[in-house]
Amino acid sequence: MSTHKIPRHVSVSCWQALIDHKKDISRTSLQEMFIQNPGRAKSFSAENNKLYVDYSKHYITEETIQLLISMAQSTDLNGAIQKLFSGATINWTENKAAMHMALRAPADKTYSVEGEDVSKQVHDELQHMQDFVTALHSGEFRGHTDKPIETVFNLGIDGSDLGAKLVTAALSNFAVSDIDIHFVSNVDINDMNSALEKSDAETTLFIISSKSFTTKETLFNAETAIKWLREHGCKSPDKHLLAVTANHDAAKALGVKDENIFHIWEWVGGRYSLWSAIGLPIAIRIGMDHFRDFLSGASAMDQHFCEQTMENNLPVILALIDIWYINFFHAETMAIFPYDHSLNMLPAYIGQLIMESNGKQIDKEGNQIKYNTSPVIWGGTGNNAQHAYFQCLHQGTHLVPVDFIVSLISNSENKSQHQELLANCLAQGEALMHGHTEVDRAETEWAAYKNIPGNRPSTTILLDELSPATLGSLLCLYEHRCFVQAHIWNINPFDQWGVELGKNIAKQISEELNEATDNNVTHDSSTERLISYYRKKNESC
Ligand code: F6P
Repeated sequence: MSTHKIPRHVSVSCWQALIDHKKDISRTSLQEMFIQNPGRAKSFSAENNKLYVDYSKHYITEETIQLLISMAQSTDLNGAIQKLFSGATINWTENKAAMHMALRAPADKTYSVEGEDVSKQVHDELQHMQDFVTALHSGEFRGHTDKPIETVFNLGIDGSDLGAKLVTAALSNFAVSDIDIHFVSNVDINDMNSALEKSDAETTLFIISSKSFTTKETLFNAETAIKWLREHGCKSPDKHLLAVTANHDAAKALGVKDENIFHIWEWVGGRYSLWSAIGLPIAIRIGMDHFRDFLSGASAMDQHFCEQTMENNLPVILALIDIWYINFFHAETMAIFPYDHSLNMLPAYIGQLIMESNGKQIDKEGNQIKYNTSPVIWGGTGNNAQHAYFQCLHQGTHLVPVDFIVSLISNSENKSQHQELLANCLAQGEALMHGHTEVDRAETEWAAYKNIPGNRPSTTILLDELSPATLGSLLCLYEHRCFVQAHIWNINPFDQWGVELGKNIAKQISEELNEATDNNVTHDSSTERLISYYRKKNESC
């Protein structure tokens, strides 16, 4: 296997030009760049689909952008985007297309997967969701004692959990139903029990959300739910079960009725699936009209990504800036700070999207790569994070490019409190960039400690307001940004083989924790000892 220090499909001279340019850029600072070019904020910002993106507080000039675009062109980025939208089998390690864009397209737009038009299937399934949500909201859908449903549990993990959880919380101001929704993903029984304790088996519905229907955590939780229903007098649990899956047989075997199974296709990756019936909890909370607005917002961003020139293409520009930091400034981490409590799941969601997609080290041709790929993504909600992590951002030693996200108009009555959030968000971007120098160093011995170097980069994304459409556009912007990163790195963003190993070992260890089982698996001495320590403690309990 050969190894590659730069992506194999990139023009070496384009890459080298960026290495040389980095030396020039490093001689100046963000503050100086703003002084030299007062029109900088206008030049390096763009507006699309009610999102305003300011990327002027980055180590970039017009020349940087041109060099990054030339580098991207040398990899035929446009061709890759076309191929993604053509429905070709671009997830080659799993022999699948990645056609999540079809899930959010309007009915009159045709998308094909490997030559087959999938638009009708998608819209039929949306209609299936609509019929169900209408029946649930009207009280027509009832449990085993003929009572309407009051509580819904979503049992799923990662892609079958995070997106739906994020959007359901984020758009609670658009709620059309007061049905309680709980998300249970962890196999830790306490996660499930605490929510079950407050629920009534006669009025509770479980959505088993699993594309594969083989995910242990979800199946454990589904079995616990069925047991709980039976223990609470339910003789027909099927009246309380729904499934969203590509594996209908497994869902039926667990006792889910045919008409209560919602379909998801093999060409939809887990972390790109919230636009499908995996988004049922969202539709239950905000209704199908708002859910369709959410899809439309994303679809508008798809169109932008497909049609805009690279210079004006938001996912492309943001991804190229990411590459600039990761591969030329060797930034290993990036942070996301929504200044909106209802978006508190966003850093986890984007972390899953980018790290599971792009945490790879083998390129498309099967070669070992020696350049960095996915950064470690972390973050938190604005003000809380300021009081927790921002010390490290302002005075620490790591280069951490930051995304700030805030909406201009508050969804709540309390405008002044929202203005405070906005002020804090804008202040942090300025503080990171400008820093602070103690004026008279001689006067205080603590001056050096109070110096804040500044010159720390950030992007600010302003949403007109947090609405189904703007949130759809925002999430889609990150999806395509992630795709462009992967394309430049020459890796497959749509598989996740790394996750499988731990799952398989957990299966073996789970058998071994039960002493009676001898599955002839040998472990390292550390794991061996941890297992026997558990067994010993368990015996004495
Ligand atoms: O383990 C990772 C993963 O495969 C994700 O990609 C996926 O979203 C999640 O597990 C859940 O998978 P499923 O929907 O098949 O239960």
